[in-house]
Amino acid sequence: MSRMSSWWRDAVIYQVYIRSFADGNGDGVGDVAGLRSRLPYLAALGVDALWLNPWYASPQVDAGYDVSDYRRLDPLFGDLDDAKALINEAHEHGLRLILDIVPNHTSDRHAWFQEALASAPGSEARARYHFRPGRGADGSEPPTDWPSIFGGPAWTRTVDADGKPGDWYLHLFAPEQPDLNWTNPQVRREFEDILRFWLDLGVDGFRIDVAHGLTKDPAFPDLASREAGGMLDAATEDHPYFDRDETLAIYEDWRRVADSYKGERVFVAEAWVADASRVARYLTPTRLHTAFNFGLLSCPWDAEALRTEIDATLGVLAAVGAPPTWVLSNHDVIRHATRYGRAQTSLADARRLYGTPVDHALGERRARAAVQLINALPGGTYVYQGEELGLPEVEDLPPAVWQDPNRRYKDHDGPVRDGCRVPLPWSGDAPPFGFSPEGAAAAPWLPQPAEWKERTAAAEEQDAASMLSHYRALLRIRREWLGRGLGDGAALEWLPEAAEGVLAFRRGEVVCYANLSKAAVELPAGYRVLIASEPVAGAMLPVDAAVWLVAE
Ligand code: GLC
Repeated sequence: MSRMSSWWRDAVIYQVYIRSFADGNGDGVGDVAGLRSRLPYLAALGVDALWLNPWYASPQVDAGYDVSDYRRLDPLFGDLDDAKALINEAHEHGLRLILDIVPNHTSDRHAWFQEALASAPGSEARARYHFRPGRGADGSEPPTDWPSIFGGPAWTRTVDADGKPGDWYLHLFAPEQPDLNWTNPQVRREFEDILRFWLDLGVDGFRIDVAHGLTKDPAFPDLASREAGGMLDAATEDHPYFDRDETLAIYEDWRRVADSYKGERVFVAEAWVADASRVARYLTPTRLHTAFNFGLLSCPWDAEALRTEIDATLGVLAAVGAPPTWVLSNHDVIRHATRYGRAQTSLADARRLYGTPVDHALGERRARAAVQLINALPGGTYVYQGEELGLPEVEDLPPAVWQDPNRRYKDHDGPVRDGCRVPLPWSGDAPPFGFSPEGAAAAPWLPQPAEWKERTAAAEEQDAASMLSHYRALLRIRREWLGRGLGDGAALEWLPEAAEGVLAFRRGEVVCYANLSKAAVELPAGYRVLIASEPVAGAMLPVDAAVWLVAE
């Protein structure tokens, strides 16, 4: 049967956190050469596309989310020839490639910001960012009460040419990440040009960093009593800097750029907005294609909560014709194998319980069931590198090795994000576990736990019962059943006979059960098992397990 669906409507997209994926040159940091050497692994895993975290020239204050030149690679990762080779080789392996574009802010080392600092208040160079006078008699108080996501105020004061304190500039993240002014036509033109630069080289799309943050209320009001919060708790209506209506028009321009290219070039929004209905605003046919759905990743391992989230997502996205995406982990949050290994399992719980004991076997068992569950849902899914090996969060990294810029601020809410960014274990019995080549000059940029010798890709490849083997089998079967129930298309029908705590639904020819209750449940008669996350004996599905069934 030929499939009518566009590739991005149900793609499985693997997130390559490039600095921690594979190190080709032995400097302890992952790079394009390392990634190229591991493309066969990714093709064998059965994913459809790769999303690469930023690889542009950057001082690396925020792991590359502080870009100083959007048309060059950081020498840490390679050069433009490496990038071109990667794009071609990925395509030869049948993998599409999505880059991360960072439009909300540049690095403070970006030529524009340097020019702005050197220019007078009110100059054209400064108008590309948000410079404003301070408050109070001598301007020594920030222009608004907005906090930076990483902690501290979102404003930093500059020094004028005469050495006196001058205007303040806005940075929703670190001071080294000044926010661009998206009402400035130069900014808009420049980013369309950057998109074209990479589209011309053949990339298949972009993940848009902080997609909900680009425009700010021109009146610059205080947050005052409004919950400030991090990205996770972004407020809804009329927030001064998140999820504002004006941002949506920018994406209409971007969509026209993408649509002017051959092949289906796509956007995925990183929009941490309040709920699914707010996400849908980004996904009309003239705006973006998809968005990360952070609903499941924030949710506890609880059937009721998951079902509510799934229904909400499906309902609002169907109304705009956009496919959902399902995400369990990424480079900003505590890995789900760890979240699910405690008695309380939401992302907020994981932040609160960071460093407390974890039942790793339980976390891994639930992680297996979870990936099976999400891959049965309509739409596409994401795999964050290492989850296919069952990697846990590394919660005991010594503070001396922390890199996350949020570590600098006592008022930052939540742990550093380094624990989900530890370099991958590929092979061998001791660090660097094949992450860096034999005889590498430097150790991996974050230390790998010794126990990861059990979790190397090489070890798991040999073990039919490993997480890696489960992912491979699952993605192979998912591909076989695309268009006959899995992936895009077939509606999801909840099965009314499911017991409490059990998620049971039909999609076309495929039936999925996920047992989040406290007891084994009986599976319906007349079906055979396509794949199960745990052995199914006597038609009983054990606790914390999922299964795909088709009629006998
Ligand atoms: C996004 C990225 C995160 C980064 C932030 C600032 O949330 O995922 O890693 O720190 O934007 O660019």
